[in-house]
Amino acid sequence: MKKWYAVIGDPIGHSLSPMMHNEWFQQLGIDATYLPIHVKEEDLEAAVASMKLLGISGFNVTIPHKEKIRPFLDALDETAEKMGAVNTVVRLEDGRLKGYNTDGLGFVRSLEEVIGDAKRHEKVLLIGAGGAARGIAFALESIGYTDVTICNRTVEKAQQICAELTIPAQAISLNTASEQLDEYAILIQTTPAGMKNSQVTIPFSLEKLKSSAIVADIVYNPLMTPLLQVAQDKGATIVSGLGMFIHQGALAFEYWTKQSPDPTAVKEQLLTHLGG
Ligand code: ATR
Repeated sequence: MKKWYAVIGDPIGHSLSPMMHNEWFQQLGIDATYLPIHVKEEDLEAAVASMKLLGISGFNVTIPHKEKIRPFLDALDETAEKMGAVNTVVRLEDGRLKGYNTDGLGFVRSLEEVIGDAKRHEKVLLIGAGGAARGIAFALESIGYTDVTICNRTVEKAQQICAELTIPAQAISLNTASEQLDEYAILIQTTPAGMKNSQVTIPFSLEKLKSSAIVADIVYNPLMTPLLQVAQDKGATIVSGLGMFIHQGALAFEYWTKQSPDPTAVKEQLLTHLGG
């Protein structure tokens, strides 16, 4: 019987997840369809109950529901619990809905697709201390990165994440990070700065960036953010957010179908759509 999957969010019209997952279903010969569903915050509880009742096999959760959905699910896996956010819901065999979070590991997979796993003991700087940074920090720790610094406008939020990590981690201001930028081998930008239609610009300078550095952005629209452009001009290796988007989706797909989709196969299609 045909299976149904979805992504819920507000807004949802521009989500690239339906294109990606439907392509994978087709490639793997799975009889399933993935739909975008617009769900307003006040309707979230009823929407989750409806998905359960209708027997939807799984769904993704995007802005602004990732945190608020938690009480409406039957179970949370450890990573989603630790992150306080859910991006993937799986219908278990007994019909219960369980929340997962594949964002952090999705990012790390996309980073290592470009740089390999040989830099796990080098110094990493995370810019930003919101939900995305939290997920990435825990994912870095879980696969063996040993030296993480988090810089943020609100340093207390960076301190909070550092306190929850078991590896040595430091919280610093954006200014301090800019001043000592030449100490870091890997930089990861996790704020909305550079995102299409975002007004956010962060007071952060790449002046001291080493040309041997790796600079990753979680923003994927546009593919080339102002930060990545400056980094590339300085000779650094850049990693756009598109890989994170694809890998978080691939991990969700694996939870749902127990099959691994080909991350490269959809990349061309997404690049064409994003005008890259
Ligand atoms: P997400 O869940 O996507 O990570 P978030 O939790 O709202 O989103 O976090 C956004 C991040 O961008 C935070 O690190 C935030 O800094 P604060 O913790 O100080 O709020 C950062 N950010 C957003 N707007 C910013 C701005 N104008 N200047 C500097 N940092 C900004």
